[in-house]
Order: sequence, then C-alpha cells, then structure tokens
Amino acid sequence: MNSTAIVLAAGQGTRMKSKIPKVLHRVGGKPMLGHVLDALTAAGIERKIAVLGHEAQLIEEWLPSEVEVVYQREQLGTGHAVLQAKELLKDISGTVLVVCGDTPLLRASTLKKLLETHLDAKAKATILTADIADPKGYGRIIRENNRVKAIVEEKDATIEEKAVTEINTGSYCFEAHFLREYLDKLTSDNAQGEYYLTDLIKLAVQDNLRVEACLLEDIKESLGINNRVQLAEAERILRERILEGLMLAGVTIIDPSSTYIHSTVHIGQDTVIYPGTILEGQTSIGENCVIGPATRITDSYVGDNCQIQNAVLLESKVNNDCKIGPFAYLRPGTVLEECVKIGDFVEVKKSVIGQGSKIPHLSYIGDAFVGQKVNIGCGTITCNYDGKNKHVTRIEDGAFIGSNTNLVAPVTVGKNAFIGAGSTINKDVPENSLGIARERQKNILDWVKAHKE
Ligand code: UD1
Ligand code: CA
Repeated sequence: MNSTAIVLAAGQGTRMKSKIPKVLHRVGGKPMLGHVLDALTAAGIERKIAVLGHEAQLIEEWLPSEVEVVYQREQLGTGHAVLQAKELLKDISGTVLVVCGDTPLLRASTLKKLLETHLDAKAKATILTADIADPKGYGRIIRENNRVKAIVEEKDATIEEKAVTEINTGSYCFEAHFLREYLDKLTSDNAQGEYYLTDLIKLAVQDNLRVEACLLEDIKESLGINNRVQLAEAERILRERILEGLMLAGVTIIDPSSTYIHSTVHIGQDTVIYPGTILEGQTSIGENCVIGPATRITDSYVGDNCQIQNAVLLESKVNNDCKIGPFAYLRPGTVLEECVKIGDFVEVKKSVIGQGSKIPHLSYIGDAFVGQKVNIGCGTITCNYDGKNKHVTRIEDGAFIGSNTNLVAPVTVGKNAFIGAGSTINKDVPENSLGIARERQKNILDWVKAHKE
C-alpha cells in the first residue's frame, strides 16, 4: 500500500495544565502519540510524519527514529500544520492519512476501513466521522442530499448546524495530488482566524471532487484528549478494552474494575488474575499462573505455573513453577530459576536464586548467587554493602543457612555446607562443613533466685 501518514502534534494542549506536552501523557502506560503511531503501523502505513511545535524537543527525544519530523513554529491551525509537511509530500502519489496525536483510542482496523472506503470510492478526501449524542466542540458534518458538503467548526456553526450530531473525528484520507494543490487555497477567514484543514472539504465539493465519509462504529475511539478528565476516561476505556481482549483470549480476571494491565503486557492461557493487580511495561506472564491479590509486576518475565501474591516485582525474571509472597519484593536484576520459593517479607535484589531453592521468611538477599536446593533460614540477610561498595555473596548448591544468619560479603558458602543459626559469617565456609560463629551459651544456675530481692 502506498500511503503516508501525517500526525498532528504541534498544539500546546493548554487545558492539560502540564509541563509535559499533551501527546506524551500516558494512557495505559504508553504516550498517546505512541498509541496513534502503533495504530498506523498496524494499519500497514509505513511512512509517518509528525508535525511538532510546542515542546517539540521533548517529543523528539521520545519519538521512534523512523518517524520523520516537521516543525510548525506558530500554531496557526490544523491546515497550516499539514502545510508544514508539504515539502515532504512533494514527490509522493497515493494516499495521505492525517490523524491527530491526541486520539489514543483509534483502532488500526478503523484506519484500515477509512483507507478502504477512500480507495474504493476513488475519493479525493474521506473523513472519519462519528454520530455522537453530545457533539459540542467538534466540527459538524454538513450534508446535502446525503452527500458531505462541508465541515463546520463549532465556533462558526449556525444553530441548525450545531444540532447536527455527525461529527468530524479529526482523521482523514486525502489523495496526495489533491492535498498538495488545495492546501495552498486555505484561508484563515473564520471565527478563530486559523487555517482549518477541514475547509479542504468545502473546497473539494465546490470543484465537484469526490468526498466520502466513513462512519465510526465504536464512537469511543474518537475521544480526543484535551484535559485530565478525558485522560482518565481514555484510561478507563483502554483498560476495559485490554482486559476484555485478555479474557476473550483465555485469561481469568476476577475483578476487572480493580485490575490494571498495560497494553504491552502478555499473559498466557488459564492464568488467573486476582483483584488489585497491576501489570506494567514489558511484562510477560505464562500459562496457569495465579497472580494477586494486590500484586504489582513491572517490566518482568514470569514463566508458567507460578503463584505470586501480595508482591512487587521490578525488572525480574521468574522461571516456571515458582511461588512468591505474600509480601515479597523482587528488585531489578533478580532471577529465580525454576521451582523457587520466595516467602513472606523477603526482599531479593540483583541476585540469582537456583532451581528448587527456598527463602521462606524475613530475609534480605542482595548481590548474591544462590545455587540449587539451598535453604535459607528465617531472618537471614546478606550484608552486601560496606558503606561504599557492594559485595557479592555466593551460596553453593545444597547449602543450609540457619536462621538469623548474617552473611558479610564478599563471602562464599560452599556446596552442602551448613551454617549454625545466629551466625555472623565473614569467612568462606568450605563445602560439606559446618560454619558457626556465635557466643557459646552458658547457663548460670539459680541466677534468677539469687537476684530476687
Ligand atoms: C479539530 C477539527 C474538528 C474536529 C476535531 C476532532 C479543525 C479545524 N477542526 O478541532 O473539526 O471535530 O479536531 O478532535 O481541524 N494542531 C497542530 N497545529 C495547529 C493546530 C492544531 O498541530 O496549529 C494539532 C493539535 O496538536 C491536535 C490536532 O491538531 O493534535 C487537533 O487540534 P485541536 O486544536 O485540538 O482541534 P479542534 O479544535 O479540536
Ligand atoms: Ca536477622
């Protein structure tokens, strides 16, 4: 398909009351502009041009490199914005899509349908329209004998025109030659003194050129974000859409109203998500897992058959058949091999825990390599930080660490070694040895009686 898309994102977004440019505000964890670009890509459009103005630099820092950029220094209207891309449109033929950067709910399937309608009708311009109960603020689609005649902006509309409920969603297809030729004909002769892109419709109709409209099926897709109330509305709609997709694909979500899952998250079949779960970023969860309640997993991989409750996992990798929580904290760089148990009030940071090992209660394990089938007793900690540097603890396969052990790193506990409870271990323990480092207990008989008054 020979198409190019122009994404309008130069506006200030004043009503967001934000220092962050509007199109970088996130919906479902992804900037609004990202949703629009992804929908374009999924609709098969390869070439994308973003029109930037306000806070252009911040947007460019985020923008994927394949997106071309043009600048609109002064925001003189949507028509003026598209005009800035004219130089890049010089040699192209085919179709030019124009979309706004602040409509994150637009689906790729809708853009495809818009393109198809446009191409089937061999139209010069095709508008994506929606029939909505409250059309206030939108440009109205004015028809005569059922054919589109013009788009009239709210501020320029008569009372009769304001009563029209079919609105312009702000997405269009144009035939490239038509767009190049007619952009130059736009004037700013209107209530807002702007160059309206929407005036192209009137100009085409005047010259007997074909204009089509493609009516949106799901009107929620047309939601343009202008303030944070609408941002939250988009968040809710997108969330419902994501959860619905997951449920239809075989994931059980016990309470969708208290479950938050980003569009970037993948979840396998027959996994059950309990209430209060937040799954974010580049996260992948396998099949047959039970996740939650009250669990947050960010940028992490979780294999199959895992159970994770009341836990926070950040940038961690959890292999199959692990049990985590309740009340566990896995910090960045944690890797659990298969069948690992991380129990209550355990924090693990930047450590590898080998297959079948258990850290059941009240531990801190940081900068450690723990082998297979290691048992770490309650209250054990790695003393990994000397105030200046971090040091590594190694615990080899089959070791047994008694309760309330302090492992002062750098230190190695050898294979199958045994550490007596309450020890502070600051020297390596050879394999198959007992390491014990604590005061010997003495009992003073009748001490209590002797001290009674
Ligand atoms: C526009 C349409 C209106 C439609 C509505 C849908 C025009 C004249 N009107 O109105 O018919 O119903 O969108 O949401 O087009 N932008 C620029 N440069 C500018 C002005 C705007 O890049 O000089 C960008 C904005 O950043 C935004 C988009 O264009 O992404 C739409 O601009 P906005 O001011 O929100 O247009 P509306 O008044 O809502
Ligand atoms: Ca302790």
